[in-house]
Amino acid sequence: MNQYVIAIDQGTTSSRAIIFDHSGTIVSSGQMEHEQIFPQAGWVEHNPAEIWNNTREVIASALSKANLTRHDIAAVGITNQRETAVVWDKTTGDAVYNAIVWQDTRTQDIVDELAKDGGPERFKQKVGLPLATYFSGTKIKWILDNVDGARAKADAGDLVFGNTDSWVLWNLTGGVDGGVHATDVTNASRTLFMDLETLSWDEEILGIFGVPLSMMPAIKSSSEVYGSVHTSQLLREVPVAGILGDQQAATFGQAAFEAGEAKNTYGTGCFLIFNTGEEIVHSKNGLLTTVGYKLGDAPTHYALEGSIAVTGSLIQWLRDNLGMISSAPEVETLAAAVEDNGGVYIVPAFSGLFAPYWRSDARGAIVGLTRFVNKNHIARAALEATAFQTREVLDAVNADSGVPLTELKVDGGMVANDALMQFQADILGVPVIRPKVVETTALGAAYAAGLAVGFWKDLGECSANWAEDKRWEPKLDKAEQDRQMRLWKKAVTKSMDWVD
Ligand code: G3P
Repeated sequence: MNQYVIAIDQGTTSSRAIIFDHSGTIVSSGQMEHEQIFPQAGWVEHNPAEIWNNTREVIASALSKANLTRHDIAAVGITNQRETAVVWDKTTGDAVYNAIVWQDTRTQDIVDELAKDGGPERFKQKVGLPLATYFSGTKIKWILDNVDGARAKADAGDLVFGNTDSWVLWNLTGGVDGGVHATDVTNASRTLFMDLETLSWDEEILGIFGVPLSMMPAIKSSSEVYGSVHTSQLLREVPVAGILGDQQAATFGQAAFEAGEAKNTYGTGCFLIFNTGEEIVHSKNGLLTTVGYKLGDAPTHYALEGSIAVTGSLIQWLRDNLGMISSAPEVETLAAAVEDNGGVYIVPAFSGLFAPYWRSDARGAIVGLTRFVNKNHIARAALEATAFQTREVLDAVNADSGVPLTELKVDGGMVANDALMQFQADILGVPVIRPKVVETTALGAAYAAGLAVGFWKDLGECSANWAEDKRWEPKLDKAEQDRQMRLWKKAVTKSMDWVD
């Protein structure tokens, strides 16, 4: 009875359900990709109805693969792609527009307009974030300004907003039939609307954006019972007891609970999170200030974050847009066939550049091309782009904290790539460490839910589950490391100031 916890990981490219036992070991999982919709250059959307259908399917598949029922599950945790905005009508349950994905840059004009008064950092002291297309706030405003009838319905109190955690929670707990409209502090800290000190919506900022407070979900901790799964669902009556944005969830799953601990997750993008404990630290080097986690009534843990928009999605682009490879792992084979990058550097600024630059006027660039260059060099440069971007973020973390990190814990899909991890260690000059369970995102959400219902009794029990799988030691000499970073930074300058 109740020997497991299930985590729903609603990510950028797929939705997954993963069932864990008490030792943090994966018992079974289900996964479904959803469509990436690109209506025009810079726009990225998902269909919220497809996401909810897939979520139900993957729950069913994870349960049936392990031959489990709701009676075996102690709690449900939710983790999600952050900043992806869904606005739906709470009387019909339908989204009024597709979800606008975190990578979407359509709100640049809104950002520029808002920045006229006080600059791009006008809200940063309060919310920890610069004005940028990345965060949910400008996307909500865009929907209210551009979808027929949306603003009137919002003013009448019929429309509600959520990142995909709230969308899944609301549907899971009953939708139009009494669904819970809530989010957790980590997701709320990605909207541009939450005051980091008070952990409540800032009515002045909401007013400036023209977003009614009635649209916003209740802000809860990351670990508490928000409600139970509705009787119409397979997991009926199981408590939903944990929510963490996916990057914060990965930090939690890596058991990086204390100030000074950090992790880097290699997914669609790359996100390095550095736990600053109970202190709100404002970056001087282009990092975001965000909530790390909050367990029930216990004090809030904050973090610095270096967000990189494009890493794994560059490999997908080589596959889907250029047809250079037929599956993502092939990139490693291609890259391994050459000694070095042949002088090629790829700056994948598809959504502008995030940390540490925050340059929305940047666009992707491939530089250093000569007749000598072949697709192996391109593949290698694509992998290296991930490592160079991570190094820039790590440099910013070290500069902000004043105490350089001596190792980096990693997780996410790309950490299966041995060549990339070796190059990462080489270019950072510190060891890179992969844990046994690399599904740290789902594990973190499972921990948050399991802690709320007493499945795990404390953080110590979760830490005890962490075990090292593999470690890559740096081998590159300092002069070569410096030379490569110099060239990378030069390539970055070529990508800037591109948008007309
Ligand atoms: O901030 C965006 C991030 O939460 C998305 O993560 O893993 O779905 O690409 P991922």
